[in-house]
Amino acid sequence: MNASVKRSADPIDHEDQRATLTDIIHVYDRVIVRAYCVVRFVIININMLHILTLCMRGKRRILEVGSGFGLFGCYFASRWPDIVYHGIDVDAGRVKMAQAAAQRLGLSNARFVCGDATGALELEDQYDAVVMMDLLHHLPDPAKRKLLDATTARLRPGGHLIIKDVTRKPAWKMAFTWLLDVLMTRGFDMWYWDRRQFREAVDPSFALETYPISDWLPYPHVVYLFSKPDAADERRS
Ligand SMILES: C[S@@+](CC[C@H](N)C(=O)[O-])C[C@H]1O[C@@H](n2cnc3c(N)ncnc32)[C@H](O)[C@@H]1O
Repeated sequence: MNASVKRSADPIDHEDQRATLTDIIHVYDRVIVRAYCVVRFVIININMLHILTLCMRGKRRILEVGSGFGLFGCYFASRWPDIVYHGIDVDAGRVKMAQAAAQRLGLSNARFVCGDATGALELEDQYDAVVMMDLLHHLPDPAKRKLLDATTARLRPGGHLIIKDVTRKPAWKMAFTWLLDVLMTRGFDMWYWDRRQFREAVDPSFALETYPISDWLPYPHVVYLFSKPDAADERRS
């Protein structure tokens, strides 16, 4: 199957955008994975996709760490055929499904590889944007810091580090998210960070914008947008 997903990338065309999401869901063979994709696209709602779209505007070489089944890699690579997307995940089964999905969708601009974010990752020399969606709370704090250092070092000047994660407040929403994470991972250890912890972990020369997401679902989602200084910023300082 080679679904045709090369559509216009007008972010305000909701129908077109939903059609892209539907195309992606249908390339997965296993019903359970399709069900997961549906739930995931509900959790990461259209408004959050719009925010991520704005954060990635004009960025071409994109790294996603913790790319899972490849949902968002396939989505962004479908919407913007001119990007070069590189996804990494520790789960070999998920990586295989992501590779098969990209192939079925005819995406030659997305590649998915296996790698452990707590160790040394094989990265390209430079990226314009690095994305981590609901990855970091799965990593112990020292591993988070190491990964943030390693990936921000590969960002070109003016590049963006885009983190979507859940924060610690309100506590009942964090507890709800923790329960779902326990069900999904069958482990109890999650390390959620608040804004201050993210701010302290990333090079202070990076600017930080924080976008808490209002949602009817009980998730305390936040999008953190870090920007590496470019030559113009350096001239101003
Ligand atoms: C909640 S899922 C999110 C997947 C994807 N980013 C999304 O938004 O649908 C977290 C992902 O992080 C991956 N992950 C967890 N620990 C990892 C590690 N040490 N290195 C790389 N990936 C990891 C898991 O395999 C899983 O696919």
